[in-house]
Amino acid sequence: METTTTIRPTFDVNDIRKSFPILEREVNNQLMVYLDNAATSQKPQMVIDALNYYYSNYNANIHRGIHTLAEEATTAYEATRKTVKDFIGAKLSNEIIFTRGTTEGINLVAYTWGRKNISEGDEIIISAMEHHSNIVPWQILCNEKKAVLKIIPVSDEGELLMDEYKKLLSSKTKLVSVVHVSNSLGTVNPVKEIIEEAHKVGAVVFVDGAQSTVHLDIDVQEMDCDFFAFSGHKVYGPTGIGVLYGKKKILEEMPVFMGGGEMIKEVTFEKTTFNELPYKYEAGTPNIADTIALKVALDFVTETKKNIIRNHESDLLKYATEQLSAIEGLRIIGTAKNKVSLISFVIKNTHPQDIGVLLDNQGIAVRTGHHCTQPLMARFGVPGTVRASFAMYNTKEEVDRLVAAVKKAIKMLT
Ligand SMILES: Cc1ncc(COP(=O)(O)O)c(C=O)c1O
Repeated sequence: METTTTIRPTFDVNDIRKSFPILEREVNNQLMVYLDNAATSQKPQMVIDALNYYYSNYNANIHRGIHTLAEEATTAYEATRKTVKDFIGAKLSNEIIFTRGTTEGINLVAYTWGRKNISEGDEIIISAMEHHSNIVPWQILCNEKKAVLKIIPVSDEGELLMDEYKKLLSSKTKLVSVVHVSNSLGTVNPVKEIIEEAHKVGAVVFVDGAQSTVHLDIDVQEMDCDFFAFSGHKVYGPTGIGVLYGKKKILEEMPVFMGGGEMIKEVTFEKTTFNELPYKYEAGTPNIADTIALKVALDFVTETKKNIIRNHESDLLKYATEQLSAIEGLRIIGTAKNKVSLISFVIKNTHPQDIGVLLDNQGIAVRTGHHCTQPLMARFGVPGTVRASFAMYNTKEEVDRLVAAVKKAIKMLT
C-alpha cells in the first residue's frame, strides 16, 4: 500500500534566535525567557541596524527636500508604505496611513469618520473582548453624539456569541469595531463573517489587528473590512510606528484629523485646501526612522514565512497548553477552538501579580493584570490573569522552564 506523508515545514528555532540579540540577556542570573510578546515583540538585529544606519547615513526630513539625503529618506519611507500594502493585501499604497500605533488608528477614525457619520440614536457594536483602545474612543464618541454602544457577548470558552451579534445588528448600526485576535484570550474571531453580516445592514467595519498581524495572513481585500489597524512593535518592528488601512473611498470622504504641515495643499489665512491620500492624515514630520525600520521587520517575517512561523507557534501553544493544564489549581482563561500562541491563566488561591513576580525572580517575563481588557476580566470574574505569549523565537525548553517556575511559585505561595 502506498503511503503519503505530509511535509509540514518548520524552521530551526536556534537559528532564528541568533537574529535577536536580546535573547542572550540574563535576568536574575538566568538566561531570560521572554514570554511577553503580545505586549511587544523583541527586535531582530537587522531592525536595530536599520535604525542605526538611517541616523548614521541619511537622516533628513522627507517629501519637501531636494537634496540627496532628503530624497534617500523619502524613498525609504515610501518603500515601507508599499511593503505594508503587500503585507496586509491592500489594493493601493495610498490606503496605508502611518500612525503611532493601533490606538492612534482607532482614534483617528473615531474623531474623523465617527464625528461625521454618527448621530443621536445611532448604534456602534464592539465586543466584550476588546482592548481599552477599542472601547474608550467609541465610548467618548457615543457620549458626545448620544449614540449607543452595544456589546457582543463572549462564551465561557472565550468565543464571540455570533447569534447574539446577529441580533444586535439593525439599520441603526453604523459601525462594528472588533478585535481580530484577543490579546487576553488568544481567540481568533471570525472577522469575515462579522464583516459580511455588518455590511448587510450597511454598517462600516473596523478590525483591530494589533494581535493578528504578527500571527495570521492578513488580506484586507479578502476580509473586506473598511478599516484595519496594527502596531509595528508587535510585528518585530520598532515602537512608535503603526498603520491604519482604510478603503480609499471612505478615507477620501472623511474629514481631516490633525492640521499642520504635509497634510495641506494650499494655505491662506482665509482658507486651507487639503492634500491627497495618504498625506491628508499624516500632519507634521512623521516617525521617519521607525517607519523605515518597519519595512525591515515585515520583510523579515515574510522571508521567514508566516506559515512556518505559525506551525512552530502552534506546536508551542499545544505543548504549553498540555503542560500548564496538568498543574493542579491552574485554570486557563480562553479555550477557544481557534487560538494564537497565547495562554492566559489563573491559579487557585494566588494573585496573578504574585505569580508574575516569582516568575521574574526565575528569569521569566510574563504579563500579569487586566491586559487593558477590564470588562473582559469582569466577564470571567477574575481580577486579572498571568499571560504567557509566544513568538517565533520561543522554544519548548522555555515552556518547560515556565512550567517548572509556575510549580515552584505555587509551592511558595500556597
Ligand atoms: C488587541 C489590541 N488592541 C489595541 C492595542 C493597542 O496597541 P498600541 O498600544 O500599540 O497602540 C493592543 C496592545 O496591546 C492590543 O493588544
